[in-house]
Amino acid sequence: MIPASVIEDIRYRCDIESVISSYVTLKRAGSNLKGLCPFHSEKTPSFTVYPGTQSYYCFGCGAGGDVINFVMRTENLDYVAAVETLAKRAGITLTDFDSNSGRPDGVSRSRVLQMNLEAAKFYRQMLFNDSVGGPGRKYFLDRGLSMAAIKRFGLGYSPPSGGSMLKHLRSLGFKEEEIRVAYFAGKNERGYYDYFRGRVMFPIIDVSGNVVAFGGRVLDDSKPKYLNTSDTPAFKKSKNMFALNYAKNSDAGYFILCEGYMDVITLHDAGFGMAVATLGTAITAEQARMMKKYTDRVVISYDSDEAGQKAANRAITLLEEAGIDAKVLRMQGAKDPDEYIKKYGADKFRELIEASRGKFEFMLDGIRGKYDISISDAKIKAISDVCSYIAGIDSSVERDIYIDKASREFSVDIKSIKADVEAKRKKRNYENSKKRKGELIRITSGIGDRINPDFAKQPKGARIEEAVLGMLFIRSEYFEREVDGKGLCEADFVTSLGKRLYSFASEQYINGGFNLGMLNERFTPDEVSRVHKMIADRNELSGNDEKSFDIYVRSMREESASAASGELSLEDILKRKRGETDN
Ligand code: UTP
Ligand code: MN
Repeated sequence: MIPASVIEDIRYRCDIESVISSYVTLKRAGSNLKGLCPFHSEKTPSFTVYPGTQSYYCFGCGAGGDVINFVMRTENLDYVAAVETLAKRAGITLTDFDSNSGRPDGVSRSRVLQMNLEAAKFYRQMLFNDSVGGPGRKYFLDRGLSMAAIKRFGLGYSPPSGGSMLKHLRSLGFKEEEIRVAYFAGKNERGYYDYFRGRVMFPIIDVSGNVVAFGGRVLDDSKPKYLNTSDTPAFKKSKNMFALNYAKNSDAGYFILCEGYMDVITLHDAGFGMAVATLGTAITAEQARMMKKYTDRVVISYDSDEAGQKAANRAITLLEEAGIDAKVLRMQGAKDPDEYIKKYGADKFRELIEASRGKFEFMLDGIRGKYDISISDAKIKAISDVCSYIAGIDSSVERDIYIDKASREFSVDIKSIKADVEAKRKKRNYENSKKRKGELIRITSGIGDRINPDFAKQPKGARIEEAVLGMLFIRSEYFEREVDGKGLCEADFVTSLGKRLYSFASEQYINGGFNLGMLNERFTPDEVSRVHKMIADRNELSGNDEKSFDIYVRSMREESASAASGELSLEDILKRKRGETDN
């Protein structure tokens, strides 16, 4: 099994939009993209790419999945080969991870935390050690970090030789296997070896002040630039943020969300103590909710390149779903906040924060960059794109505000924009209802459901189950949610596919991390497609909040309980379909 963290890394570094774009011409439609399906022949595009969930789904043929599944299908590869292909594209060496792929079994959280604390002290000692720490100190000072920042963040150094963590932790009584589980050692044919060597070290500290993990950066341009602690019994990448332990005490009233450790440290050093960063992955719903505990406003300050801007787009959606007012900071003349501050200073950066824009302006920016609106054809296309975007918004108040803005932006009569938006909404609604009808016929007749053969036995329960699974896959923190005082269990699910999906995903979730990419290993491409249909269906609707989730879980439990009290016979099913009942 390829470790969850590797799959997560690959899915993060291989943006689905750019991978699919090399096979299919995609056009923006609201916050999603559409194109002609590569898996069946069609004239009007029903193949949809969802950057928000990094997935695709074709409403015409039902093919759907994530980036791994897409490569499996288009290149006709098995799971491992597809992962290898993508890893190559992303510049990730799979063999690097093999030695660390063991499961963190039997080592307690507190043991790992003890090791982490000792390690943090040791790395710091190494940094300030006269005979070995020179290169580390030079690196930090060359990058303009103050001694205060180095101390405040507890930065350290793992020398290439003469300062082995493995040896150090062993001398403190930790066993090699424990040290490996905590990610301070790897293991190969020749035995255990130090995981971090010749790197400057960034400890990651949780909100309670525990050192939970480390990032280690090379001192030159070699690869991989950072090595990070993968998930351990004391650490989950998707549930921690860098510098949140400090930012939570800031009284700025907002957070600045960055991509890199160095950005955060430079910002703090320049007086922006509200800066935080994710740990080398896209922001997760859990992280958004963590921030929401401390603030209602976040300014996204990602890298100024295309990848950074795309990531910002995804982050806006996620933050807004968590109830955070998200803005995006635009930076010119520097690739990231770290570089910007060093070039232009803190005051200029403060101006950028003040000028940061909401999601509509951010979307407009993207369109301005794409079209030259002094040409009338291009202007028409631009307006059409903007109207599609507005048409995808559910709140009519919000739509009206954007219609007004768009009319001023393009100096076009507000009535024309409104009419265009309404026409696009009508078309959307019509297509949605057509889609649902078609689906309903397929489902209620039970024909053609070879992927989930149990569907016909209990169509109502199965549909509810799909909604619950869809929400679980969109918001994995629901795996932990209790409804009516009880967590979910396999018996709550209705069909055997649903049960298998739940038990696999929840097990992975508990064992240190689940991501959609992992389904490709255990389920057929068609089954994975079904999962993405569930996700696509939920994405089309709004209302994946906790309240809706609870309602669906309750009715799913009722349905599975009624099934348990007597399975329907074939005769019952036929009766049901004819509209007859027993009583
Ligand atoms: P960046 O390359 O933007 O990081 O990657 P940075 O902190 O700005 O690095 P430098 O020192 O200025 O060049 C953003 C984040 O992605 C993760 C790290 O968390 C990094 O801070 N990352 C990046 C990795 O985990 N591994 C990598 O190989 C690269
Ligand atoms: Mn940087």
